[in-house]
Amino acid sequence: MKLKEKLKKLKKEIQQAFAGVEDLEELEKLRVKYLGQKGEVQEIFGQIGEVEPEMRPEIGKKTNELQEQAAKLHQKEKKRLEKKEKKQKMKKEKIDVTLPGTKPEMGYAHPLTRGMEEIKEVFLGLGFSIAEGPEIETEYYNFEALNIPENHPARDLQDTLYIDDKHLLRTHTSPVQVRTMENQRPPIRILAPGRVYRSDELDASHSPVFHQIEGLVVAEDISFSDLKGTIRSFVSEIYGEERDIRFRPSYFPFTEPSAEVDVSCIVCEGEGCSLCSRSGWLEVMGAGMVHPNVLEMSGYNPEVFSGFAFGMGWDRIAMLKYGIHDIRVLFENDRRFLHQF
Ligand code: DAH
Repeated sequence: MKLKEKLKKLKKEIQQAFAGVEDLEELEKLRVKYLGQKGEVQEIFGQIGEVEPEMRPEIGKKTNELQEQAAKLHQKEKKRLEKKEKKQKMKKEKIDVTLPGTKPEMGYAHPLTRGMEEIKEVFLGLGFSIAEGPEIETEYYNFEALNIPENHPARDLQDTLYIDDKHLLRTHTSPVQVRTMENQRPPIRILAPGRVYRSDELDASHSPVFHQIEGLVVAEDISFSDLKGTIRSFVSEIYGEERDIRFRPSYFPFTEPSAEVDVSCIVCEGEGCSLCSRSGWLEVMGAGMVHPNVLEMSGYNPEVFSGFAFGMGWDRIAMLKYGIHDIRVLFENDRRFLHQF
């Protein structure tokens, strides 16, 4: 076939090929086939030397034209296909906002936290503020400053978890009383909730870690009736107004006089049942008037200042309130348990 005819045929072929192309990959193959360095257009350029000399300029010109046309065609198709593929991609990656979403898992406040928050609310309403102290305490704050003598059984290794000779895990929240008195001036009205530790074996009713809430009020002329009034408000808010309260004489080294506070049973209302061991009463806290020795050691003149204090174990109260029979479930953090509240 003559080169001139070959050129004509190639021109037609190129036009048809580019018109039918469907994607960029196919287009690139066509570009290589026709316009590449070893492509068909180059092949014609290579053959020009074989035609008669007088024909060469014309064929050369036509081949140049074909190359230009083909390049333009390629550019045009490339743009079209790029646009098309972008559109398809957008369509494919579109987010369907009407599809159901993945539900975020909701957390729940632990029953101990919930109860603690409720109690805090009550006391904040009575004008108290919240105080904190370290869980690793010194013997001084945990015992000595609270008038707990050297030979007191609570100081024994069997009851207290010591860290070294001088440091221990606080066995109650009462040391916060002393730390607060050292750092604030009266009138003092604080509530100190927190974790406490004792060397107890873990069983259904004992845990080496549990929670207490301490209260302290110190000012001039604070009397036992202030203590009673405060406890009355607290019991009404937390256990209900219909509850009876009773103060039983008791002993704590850091209060004088001291009392245990009982509340009429929340289940039988005083009749006697298994929860209250047939007594009709539930013991909820220890309390009393701050001992003069404690005031004095913290730098207060007991002739001028007086105060009351109370302390309660919150875990047992939460167990009563929520009908929990084993203290261990409070610390295992099993979600099946926690989700019930
Ligand atoms: N700290 C005592 C305990 O752990 C509880 C207590 C009793 C605290 C009487 C007080 C109080 O503030 O006045 O058993």
